[in-house]
Amino acid sequence: MLKKPHKTITITSGKGGVGKSSIVSNMAYLLGNMNKSTFILDADLSLGNIDIMFGMVSKFNVKDLIDGSRQIDEVIMEGPCGIKIIPATSGVSEFANLDTNERSILLTSLRTLPEHDFLIVDTSAGISSNVVYFNSMSEEVFVVITPDPASITDSYAVIKVLSKKTGRKDFNVIVNMVKDEKEALGIFKKIVNVTDRFLDVYLYYFGFIPLDKNINIATRKQRLWVEYFPDSSATRALTQICNRLVT
Ligand SMILES: Nc1ncnc2c1ncn2[C@@H]1O[C@H](COP(=O)(O)OP(=O)(O)OP(=O)(O)O)[C@@H](O)[C@H]1O
Ligand SMILES: [Mg+2]
Repeated sequence: MLKKPHKTITITSGKGGVGKSSIVSNMAYLLGNMNKSTFILDADLSLGNIDIMFGMVSKFNVKDLIDGSRQIDEVIMEGPCGIKIIPATSGVSEFANLDTNERSILLTSLRTLPEHDFLIVDTSAGISSNVVYFNSMSEEVFVVITPDPASITDSYAVIKVLSKKTGRKDFNVIVNMVKDEKEALGIFKKIVNVTDRFLDVYLYYFGFIPLDKNINIATRKQRLWVEYFPDSSATRALTQICNRLVT
């Protein structure tokens, strides 16, 4: 039987702490709410925290899949709105870079996932070989950028490396932690000015998320901000991004 076509999207960044895991978890919740069956793969293999964002404690994780001690259905955790989470492990540095055999085991497991609409992959920051690998297996890549000048330069570096190593030419950009859309578009323009000059890539502005104190309040309580603050400006902005994703 043919499986329903699904979309694998990777959320990545140059600089750390720009909001990738926060976007992945809350995006999955909104997509689940839209009746889209959604999986999350926590691909921050040595410092994963998606389970924590959902206020859950994982029993097994990707490590158990890769070493063959567990099957994928034993590793998957059920979150709210039917979201399925494949958690990572925290503090196991040996998984910072998977070898070819480990990648192949993981990919084979992912191929056995039940039907779904989206698989959202949360990566670690930067340009490790894992990050390059997880970006290469996705249909769509989203680079998260913030107004921090280091984030803008590091995003350029990540786009450069990913385009050179994977041949990808299209990148989606989400601008996080901005005052408003005007600031987001200004930051997007800054990075496009550089990529247009030096790289053969196309950047697509996908949306922005405002700097919103509700995000920190919810995160500290290990709650999803889209659920805890459904009327916040951040929730409205991420809903727009998800609407764009499903159309
Ligand atoms: N729009 C926002 N407004 C306010 N705080 C935010 C926003 N987005 C994310 N944050 C906060 O920023 C911090 C970092 O977020 P998160 O852990 O999702 O980043 P990350 O990119 O996944 O980090 P890492 O690279 O370490 O994996 C968290 O405390 C989160 O609550
Ligand atoms: Mg993260």
